[in-house]
Amino acid sequence: MEKIVVSGGAPLFGQVEISGSKNAALPIIYACVLVKGKCVLENIPDVSDIRTSFEILRGIGAEVRMLSRGVWELDCTNVEAGRSDYELVRKIRGSYYLLGSEFGRFGRARVGFPGGCNFGVRPIDQHIKGFEALGGTVSTEGGYVEIESESGARGANIFFDLSSVGATLNVMIAAATADGVTVIDNAAREPHVVDCANFLNTCGAQISGAGSDVIKIKGVKELHGCTYAIIPDMIEAGSFMVAAVATRGSVRINNVIPKHLESVTAKLIECGAEVEEFDDAVMVTTPGSIRRTSVKTLPYPGFPTDMHPQMAALLCTAEGVSYINESVFENRFRYVEELRRMGARIKVDGRVLVIEGGAPLSPAPVIATDLRGGVAVMIAALTAKGVTEISEIRLIERGYDDICGKLRSLGADIKKVVLPDEAILPRVN
Ligand code: UD1
Repeated sequence: MEKIVVSGGAPLFGQVEISGSKNAALPIIYACVLVKGKCVLENIPDVSDIRTSFEILRGIGAEVRMLSRGVWELDCTNVEAGRSDYELVRKIRGSYYLLGSEFGRFGRARVGFPGGCNFGVRPIDQHIKGFEALGGTVSTEGGYVEIESESGARGANIFFDLSSVGATLNVMIAAATADGVTVIDNAAREPHVVDCANFLNTCGAQISGAGSDVIKIKGVKELHGCTYAIIPDMIEAGSFMVAAVATRGSVRINNVIPKHLESVTAKLIECGAEVEEFDDAVMVTTPGSIRRTSVKTLPYPGFPTDMHPQMAALLCTAEGVSYINESVFENRFRYVEELRRMGARIKVDGRVLVIEGGAPLSPAPVIATDLRGGVAVMIAALTAKGVTEISEIRLIERGYDDICGKLRSLGADIKKVVLPDEAILPRVN
């Protein structure tokens, strides 16, 4: 059993390097299944969701090897459909991209239901609607999603009922080698959708419009291998920006695409922080006190739902009453109880968080309830004078590459400790 121990109360200062985007790397790794040949992927973050994905692919016959830190070679020439390990697949959300890539390459797929953070119901009806439009017959039985087709995926027009990152990527992957043209309307516009389209195009696909809400995919017969560098992780970068302001520090965040951070930058400026943009870095400083604000999470380019918990931790330290309206997921508030343990005055009113800021947070034993919620309590702990212990840290390590080392390099007093299992009493709810 591992814990993170934070002795908080000091501002963060210095520079930090951002890793590659987990949510871009995941679809790209699974899209390699479409390729007969070697793909070299650079800027792959060292996080457990990616390690699990490599295990899943090895299990279906892929050759996966690390060439150097962050650089991986994948050869999916000999993969087979329908063989993925149920237990591994259910550990993460991104494994659902195997549905699109098996269907695209083999005309059939069989993959267990995905896992991922618990934000209430997370349906995959839009993915299924897309696969059916491409000519698949989809069944969901015994914990598996199965796609069958007479003669492989066929191009089609698809109008999604809502903006879904996962469904857009899954259908785009399946359509890349489908017979004919696919048009996805009401597509998600997130940078990771664009990155996956760029990767597939580098392999010979013909995809246009990614980044807008209409994506056109002309199916090609075959894709070839390539070398491709994943974009920087905008959520990791945003988390460090918020941590810098929450601790009233001053941090230069390197290896970012400032455009991807605009909604976070705008909110931090509204709260009284200063953000200077460079070509591939942002400098965040906190000249005075931090003010309240209102935030509504939205699909890109709106404020990302994956930055909501971190922003809540920051707003606990701001003067006045702030509001966060979570419009993407129905229940992403499990971490709120942990912030309350640290003295935060927050209440949940339907899908709106009401945060009465201004009172200093205090240390308490807390848990990471999910990936971003875990980082929110870590940010809260960095602001609280005294020692906070965070358990269930494997949830944080699903998506943050060496977060303790990076925070230490900014002057934080933070360490990971390994304890015998019996040293941690289970929390009884
Ligand atoms: C991805 C990200 C996650 C991020 C989210 C929104 C990965 C691995 N995960 O999750 O970190 O928080 O985008 O930016 O990249 N929905 C449906 N039916 C569907 C699909 C989605 O109703 O078939 C709903 C969801 O319940 C949610 C909304 O649509 O309310 C958006 O979800 P979606 O964009 O699909 O999120 P994920 O792909 O699961």
